[in-house]
Amino acid sequence: MRKIVAYIGILLATVFTVGAQTGVMNLKSPDGRMEARFELKDGVPYYSLSRDGKAVILPSRMGFTLEWRKNDMASGFQVNNVHEETFDETWQPVWGEEANIRNHYNEMVISLQQDYYLDHEGKRVDKPTVMIIRFRLYDDGLGFRYEFPQEIQNSEFIVHNSLITFWLTDELTEFRLPGDPMAWWIPGDYDTQEFNYTQSRLSQVRELHDSPHISGGWPWKSFSDTGLQTALQLKTDDGLYINIHEAAVLDFPTMNLDLTYNEEVNRLKVHLTPDATGYVGRLTSPCYSPWRTVQVCDKATDVLRSRLILNLNEPCALEDVSWIHPVKYMGVWWEMISDHSTWGYTNDFPSVRLPGDPSLPPSLQGAITDYTKAKPHGRHGANNANVRRYIDFAAKHGFDALLIEGWNIGWEDWYGKDKDYVFDFLTPYPDFDLPALNRYAHERGIRLIMHHESSSSVTNYERFMERAYNLMNEYGYDAVKSGYVGHIVPHGEHHYSQPIINHYHRAIVEAAKHHIMVNAHEAVRPTGLCRTWPNMIGNESAMGTEFRGRINPGHTTILPFTRLQGGPMDYTPGIFETDMEKNAPWNHDLMRHTICNQLGLYVTFYSPLQMAADFPEHYEPYMDAFQFIKDVAVDWDTSIYLYAEPGDYIVTARKPKVSTLNQAADGLGELPDGKKGVISNAARFVYGIEDTNAFTHSHINALKPRDTWFVGGVTDENAREFSVRLDFLKPGVKYEATIYADAKDASGYVSDVTIGWEAARKEGYNPKAYTITKKTVTSKTVLKLKMAPCGGFAVSIRER
Ligand code: NOJ
Ligand code: CA
Repeated sequence: MRKIVAYIGILLATVFTVGAQTGVMNLKSPDGRMEARFELKDGVPYYSLSRDGKAVILPSRMGFTLEWRKNDMASGFQVNNVHEETFDETWQPVWGEEANIRNHYNEMVISLQQDYYLDHEGKRVDKPTVMIIRFRLYDDGLGFRYEFPQEIQNSEFIVHNSLITFWLTDELTEFRLPGDPMAWWIPGDYDTQEFNYTQSRLSQVRELHDSPHISGGWPWKSFSDTGLQTALQLKTDDGLYINIHEAAVLDFPTMNLDLTYNEEVNRLKVHLTPDATGYVGRLTSPCYSPWRTVQVCDKATDVLRSRLILNLNEPCALEDVSWIHPVKYMGVWWEMISDHSTWGYTNDFPSVRLPGDPSLPPSLQGAITDYTKAKPHGRHGANNANVRRYIDFAAKHGFDALLIEGWNIGWEDWYGKDKDYVFDFLTPYPDFDLPALNRYAHERGIRLIMHHESSSSVTNYERFMERAYNLMNEYGYDAVKSGYVGHIVPHGEHHYSQPIINHYHRAIVEAAKHHIMVNAHEAVRPTGLCRTWPNMIGNESAMGTEFRGRINPGHTTILPFTRLQGGPMDYTPGIFETDMEKNAPWNHDLMRHTICNQLGLYVTFYSPLQMAADFPEHYEPYMDAFQFIKDVAVDWDTSIYLYAEPGDYIVTARKPKVSTLNQAADGLGELPDGKKGVISNAARFVYGIEDTNAFTHSHINALKPRDTWFVGGVTDENAREFSVRLDFLKPGVKYEATIYADAKDASGYVSDVTIGWEAARKEGYNPKAYTITKKTVTSKTVLKLKMAPCGGFAVSIRER
């Protein structure tokens, strides 16, 4: 269990008796600026929220409708009792944007009671129903959730809840907003969040709703032409940043929002993802809903600093977290994404029927697909020689790990077929020698990262999960990238429906038992569960680098406000070769970023799992710029958000956490075939050990880590200049800064990504032009840093 350094819990209990309380109940934030109000109007629950006396959320409905109950959980309530409490702790995440996180809130817990209910025939049953609403108000936002206890203690007696097993047909929670705020949004969906964001007023959502689908992910399942996903970032005309999301989604479907906007009302209503039978939650008490959250900040940089979502999650559930560590990795991956090579091995099979499929009759078992007899097509990326080439490069440059996709049989038939028995996660292709490659990697100080593409056949992944994790344990894999491309099997379920939410969670919990860290792609966007389960080190769950030219300029300046609010993203940055034709002649995309933009992302995008995604041969000509990717840390002691505006720019400074710098390498040394004493590239930088120096980790104890900072910036299609005051450095100390900046004539912008390199050049497209400058700096220095269109900068600063 993580140590809590400070805890003050003061109980200010106010107890009301049933029926005596129907008035307004108020709760103030610790700094007194925010106020949440709860009110029963004729038995119907409402809440509202204000900051400095100004309305943020107007009175908005709460509650649920249920199957089999005519009066639902929506009206006919009385207040049973109310508790208030103050809580203040500082906790230490296993990894994160800072070493210490303060969790300080005032809480109001309201028990509501219905004295009787009407059954499905409308007959009155004189048994009480209890629902608790728990509000937590922070200086930077509100969280509230619904709780369904089996019983509650009244002032005199125990009330047994008649609501034990129940099925939700709708959640009535609303967020009614004054005015017509600006919104950064992606369309509501049951299956994907792989979309570009649209920036518009809420009143424009309906007319613009379809445009993100044009370049977005598949499969998408829209439910309304005014549906929106969370985290939804809003900005009022008064300059207030409001962010609506949810925290701790467990055993509950994902929340979308449906907008009603007209002259009278501006309302976002919760829309839960239905399961295959149409219900939006099958619950058994005791249980609670996820937290519904409204983050409210005066400044955009405060949105990035907010830990509201993490704080609303429960503390770490794992006793031993010593095996969890940050990872900087490379991958046999981009070459498949860019069509330079393939995941599959052969063209021999019109369809793949894997041996062992329990649905096959014995006469067909193994008869159709026999890879040992198949003719390789020669484009398989995960072959022994190619994997060794990547291992050599990653090891030479001090990375922790290498991801390899397409190592296992089944890829010839994995996509878009809605197959059940699609992979076995156990059998390598004939040209992938799993034991030998792991040994080869470990001897050079590299771990291999396992890949489990489930093709969204959750049924099948669960069938194999235990065996697949055991295989990983046998060979020393400690991290898996899982994936959920395509329609969910069981058919009719969705990526965000309750049974599938439970699957993602089960995968994390089971993985923890095997000491495996999980990075799930296409799974539901995170809601802070990594606080409780820190082996959940990554997720994609948004439009990432794999979308290449389809990514809009400015996309990466929005994600930290939206997708990253719930947890880190495996965005897979580091693409230096922006001309996709270099990877495959038939692939005409140009990517809209400069090399320095990609460098900046390692600082502006928080993730304890960071990839250098491009090919080794694409880094070779730019090793001086690649040095930043080697030096940068991925886990932080302190983060300072200097400048930010969603859709425009982000500038962030971070100081590495020294205790986890070399943790991945140290763990590898404990394997029987693992190279001992490896020093990771980021540790080398912080301890000032030259690349050519043959130090081992045992020598580090004799060295002092140097005070080190990294600063990164990214911009949209507009060039920008920022003054960065280095007043976070230790006063009176001299540091060396290495500044990686877009050259004067650099530009990552092109009007149409398919026009080809020559035509793009005529528009000024010049993504690989950068300068690297070294400078002595102190806490008094102010750096002037320029960014080209779609550009960025990166600065490493180390005590001399
Ligand atoms: C989609 C993932 O986002 C990508 O990273 C992966 O390579 C493919 N699925 C195949 O699993
Ligand atoms: Ca994806």
